[in-house]
Amino acid sequence: MISSRLRLAMSVFAACALTAAAAGSQPAGPDGAALFAANCAPCHGADGEGRQRNPRLVGSPVASAPGNLVFQILEGSGAMPRFAALLDDGGIAAIVNFVRGTLNDAADMIDASFVALIRG
Ligand code: HEC
Repeated sequence: MISSRLRLAMSVFAACALTAAAAGSQPAGPDGAALFAANCAPCHGADGEGRQRNPRLVGSPVASAPGNLVFQILEGSGAMPRFAALLDDGGIAAIVNFVRGTLNDAADMIDASFVALIRG
């Protein structure tokens, strides 16, 4: 089920209210690669290749939409824990940009305010 907060965030995203960084550049702030390595790689693999019952993040349909990826990290699902209380908005944004921009090839980056909007 898609929450109204998520729908709102997705429409804001679609309206291009967010910074579109050039492909390959990382916005300043928390280190998404390091945060991914510490929080996500133990289950999803260092390169997001997936591990046992933990799905691949490369080519993941959830990772392809930034709002969905933020929601997945905040709330978790199934055997994946929720990170809402563990990571701040800037940290989640950095992880999302790493997963989408580095593990996948998205060019559009998000920032902490996008995470805050979904967190509500
Ligand atoms: C304890 C292991 C574990 C950790 C840590 C973990 N995940 Fe997951 N993740 C899972 C499992 C298991 C699923 C499948 C959940 C389900 O079936 O609902 C999942 C699902 C996902 C999905 C959906 C994939 C798809 O295409 O369906 C994404 C995206 C994701 N995780 C990203 C992350 C990110 C980013 C982090 C770090 C902030 C992270 N996960 C941390 C275990 C984990």
